[in-house]
Amino acid sequence: MNKKTIRDVDVKQKRVLVRVDFNVPLDDQQHVADDTRIRAALPTIRFLRDQQAAVILMSHLGRPKGVTPKLSLAPVAARLSELLGAPVIMAKDCIGPDVQQAARQLKPGEVLLLENLRFYAEEEKNDPEFARQLANLGDIYVNDAFGTAHRAHASTEGVTHYLPAVAGFLMEKEIDFLGSALENPQRPLVAILGGAKVSDKIAVIERLLGLADKLLIGGGMANTFLKAQGIEVGQSLVENDKLDVAKELLKKGGDKLVLPVDAVIADAFAADANSKVVSVNQVPADWRILDIGPATVKAFKKHLKGAKTVVWNGPMGVFEFPAFAKGTFAIAETLAGLKGATTIIGGGDSASAVEQSGVADKVTHISTGGGASLEFLEGRVLPGVAALNDK
Ligand code: 3PG
Repeated sequence: MNKKTIRDVDVKQKRVLVRVDFNVPLDDQQHVADDTRIRAALPTIRFLRDQQAAVILMSHLGRPKGVTPKLSLAPVAARLSELLGAPVIMAKDCIGPDVQQAARQLKPGEVLLLENLRFYAEEEKNDPEFARQLANLGDIYVNDAFGTAHRAHASTEGVTHYLPAVAGFLMEKEIDFLGSALENPQRPLVAILGGAKVSDKIAVIERLLGLADKLLIGGGMANTFLKAQGIEVGQSLVENDKLDVAKELLKKGGDKLVLPVDAVIADAFAADANSKVVSVNQVPADWRILDIGPATVKAFKKHLKGAKTVVWNGPMGVFEFPAFAKGTFAIAETLAGLKGATTIIGGGDSASAVEQSGVADKVTHISTGGGASLEFLEGRVLPGVAALNDK
């Protein structure tokens, strides 16, 4: 990465303002339900504390419109404190005189977490005055929020106009893994794409068709490709307005693009629906495809065998329903078992699928970014990264 990191600046005894992505799910009891993103920020926070920096953390949580107590970051402060084994002071706001004072009084090694940035509309509007008020809290700005790097918001972009701005360790790691997998991959490079819609992934399919040696397509988006080939897929999710795009991509992809040959189909979109395995051209008119079938898993495994780099984004089926999770989990297990390959999981659903299948520690890198990793795979410039100081 050609951006400065916290290793390139002197953070000793400084007040360091760190943008993290603590946009984590909360359960009914308002506890953190998945702390992956909090854990992922620990190396940067620990490093700063070791350097005797006063650490001021800021994040958004959810998509509130104005102050929304249910979206307070207080539960995150509690979990972070447990993980750090040190107190985390929870601020009542993210700007204003009280926060200014709390930041000023913060001692070396102490940690302050600001309240949800999105309680102010100015955050998403990238309002310069709001950004300036945030910047006033610190001497140096660190962006460790890879998951939010695709947003040009006050805390990811605006703030960099007022302070020295460098990347944290998580940001660096994400960019290095995703970047080298695409720009300088060990070949063969096999990409796997899934998820519901082709429309979300047109740009990434186009880019991967140029870069990868094989592109395996599963999930709901495969249905649109099948239909574009004249295959009837019953009640399956299909984007009829994208059939022409799918035809173009099929033409462009040729042998590189691999589609499912069979599917697990259901008579309803429900966890307890009746299901069976059929070849893709035998889907009855009133049934729908909810997962890739065993023959497809076998074919995908064959293409993955010998791969040196694998990039995966998007599940192969409706893995939230156990009856339709086999395809997604089989891919996760296959990646985990590949010897000598770099395996990169784009964030969001495929990341949780890998976690759920219990093989998270057997893949090379799981991105903490959903939308951000997709935009990175598309080859787009992430504003939160672009705004950081060059090396
Ligand atoms: C994410 O979860 O993808 C990031 O935290 C960004 O959240 P957003 O899509 O609400 O901007």
